[in-house]
Amino acid sequence: MTEIQVQTNQRSYSVFAERGLLSHLPVTAAPGEKALIVTDSNVAPLYCDTVEQSLKKAGFSVHRFVFKSGEQAKNLTVFGEILEVLAMLRFSRTDKIFALGGGVVGDLAGFAASAFMRGIEFYQIPTTLLAMVDSSVGGKTGVNLAHGKNLTGAFWQPTAVFLDADTLTTLPELQIKNGTAEMLKTGVIRDAELFARLADSDTPELADILRCIEIKAEIVSQDERESGVRKLLNFGHTVGHAVEKLSDYAVPHGFAVAAGMAVAVASAQKRGLASGCLDPLLAALRRHGLPRGTEYGAAELAQAVLSDKKLAGGKIDLILPTRIGSAEVVPLDVGEIEGFIADGLEVLRR
Ligand SMILES: NC(=O)c1ccc[n+]([C@@H]2O[C@H](COP(=O)([O-])OP(=O)(O)OC[C@H]3O[C@@H](n4cnc5c(N)ncnc54)[C@H](O)[C@@H]3O)[C@@H](O)[C@H]2O)c1
Repeated sequence: MTEIQVQTNQRSYSVFAERGLLSHLPVTAAPGEKALIVTDSNVAPLYCDTVEQSLKKAGFSVHRFVFKSGEQAKNLTVFGEILEVLAMLRFSRTDKIFALGGGVVGDLAGFAASAFMRGIEFYQIPTTLLAMVDSSVGGKTGVNLAHGKNLTGAFWQPTAVFLDADTLTTLPELQIKNGTAEMLKTGVIRDAELFARLADSDTPELADILRCIEIKAEIVSQDERESGVRKLLNFGHTVGHAVEKLSDYAVPHGFAVAAGMAVAVASAQKRGLASGCLDPLLAALRRHGLPRGTEYGAAELAQAVLSDKKLAGGKIDLILPTRIGSAEVVPLDVGEIEGFIADGLEVLRR
């Protein structure tokens, strides 16, 4: 079993990775302890029985909460339903939540864990590539509001992350691409060799998945609350979130991030920044069947960006690579954002 440690002030924990791990999760229940498996309608028929058996063997009294899959479910209503179910089942402060699924499940279940009785423990069991390499580690939880993505949430670290790469065998190709976008992002901001390996392969290897987790763990351990280096993980997310929002979440997160990375790097190149990054990035995105731009216009994208939450003092923190493998935070006046996006779109349409 591979173990990667994450150290935060709130809690230090490990990511345990092993093929087949779902059938023997390394947990033990105290007498009478309850577990709620939170999962979605696609994942439940595939893996819920295995996890339920595993938790029963560990001594838990097990319950399930299954919601209809999709980003649209990441809302306050479903969040409230989970809390009501926990209350109805008479969960106490020492009972546990297990988030079995992709980023939507993890964000919702983690937020519910942070709020129920002012915080109970939860475990992440990521079953999408995106959740494995990104959302299951780091403790960002939350839901979308009508006004924008992830506008409400909490930093709430899991007690452990259990990664079973066998779950990727049922993951649709589109979702593999979705996660690959976040892996490419990780390579661009932190590890040129990882980027090169990904750019040169059709499907990510387990070693590269673990490398991404190691990088995320390292960054989160340095900056739990995103006041510094953790911001780098938002590379591609400024325009990416705008694309997701404008498409009413029809464009999957990773695809939107891919478009966002392309626009940011294209615009940076026009300003003489991010030298030597655009061509390798576009080639890698092409190889993995990911978007290399967006059909949305600069004005509508800028408007969507400005309704995002990451605005501080009239500035927006853009993340731009300085070269492949390294990135920096570049604050931009909000008044300049439309021009920045327009430049990127123009370069990409040439
Ligand atoms: N908290 C964070 O740090 C963080 C980071 C990145 C993204 N996110 C969030 O994560 C979400 C996206 O996550 P996602 O891409 O995993 O989406 P998702 O959870 O909707 O999963 C994608 C699809 O795959 C299905 N699925 C999951 N595992 C499967 C499996 N093993 N086999 C077959 N189908 C499976 C799901 O039912 C769903 O239809 C977004 O809401 C995004 O904002 C959060």
